[in-house]
Amino acid sequence: MFGYLAAAALCLVAVLVLRSDPWSLCEVPGLSSLFPEQCRGQAGRLLSKGELSSYDGGHGSPGLYLAVLGQVFDVQKGMKHYGPGGSYSFFTARDASRAYVTGDFAEGGLVDDVSELSPSQMLHLNNWLSFYQKNYVAVGKLIGHFYDEYGNPTKALEDALAAIDVGLKLKEKRHEENKQFPPCNSEFSSGISRVWCSKNSGGIQRDWVGVPRKLYLAGFDGYRCVCVRATGPSSENPESEVHDNRGDLDNPSLKEYKDCNPLFDWCLLKE
Ligand code: HEM
Repeated sequence: MFGYLAAAALCLVAVLVLRSDPWSLCEVPGLSSLFPEQCRGQAGRLLSKGELSSYDGGHGSPGLYLAVLGQVFDVQKGMKHYGPGGSYSFFTARDASRAYVTGDFAEGGLVDDVSELSPSQMLHLNNWLSFYQKNYVAVGKLIGHFYDEYGNPTKALEDALAAIDVGLKLKEKRHEENKQFPPCNSEFSSGISRVWCSKNSGGIQRDWVGVPRKLYLAGFDGYRCVCVRATGPSSENPESEVHDNRGDLDNPSLKEYKDCNPLFDWCLLKE
């Protein structure tokens, strides 16, 4: 009974404090996770690297924080992952943006320099940022690599955002290419590789199956297996009434697999 009364009193105090100074509760370690709505807007706090480094969840530390692309999050509710001894404790109390993509969790890899990452790697990092924005409470910004001492974006952040933008455009382009040339299904067993086409290979739903071909794209090394529509007009002239009824088979970026029947919708790879 006394326990319930004490809990109720604590809640009342919390509500009153939140009403008079909504941000003060958000400063209490872990409480921002209990009041996500109230604390979500408090992304204006600026932390120095030294300040952030004390938020490692250890004994006497003020809380459990980490940063991605300079944005600081309270990850107290993910204590089992990020707390001392947790599998991902190396991410806490710092901005280790690069390691989210490279998987290099050695001290030298746990850094915020993302300038060497490719646009598609930056897109991957952006997915992690979205993950934290969705699942954890934003605390503020880390002064240093991505934000200056006034909380303004640095050149490094502008470059990172530009790379993410390029990554998004490439993804969009790849999606369009995939509609014309959906990736093949593939499997490897007992030393034999098999590729084959189906109406949903590569996650592209369509009303044709297609035949496997090697697609060589300018600017990319090697090739990838794609399913090629083998009937109707080519994708370049979809409305054309005069055509060879060979679909995209004559596209110059395609090559047949050696030792495979070019009309079959599957192929055993011996190369
Ligand atoms: C670049 C490589 C990787 C990174 C950056 C990474 C990162 C993370 C992070 C940050 C979390 C915590 C997410 C949260 O806050 O809830 C997590 C959880 C987890 N990761 Fe990884 N991870 C990687 C690779 C892997 C691999 C290869 C495996 C499996 C073989 C794996 C298995 C798991 C599991 C099982 C969880 C816990 C899920 C849960 O209990 O909610 N991770 N990972």
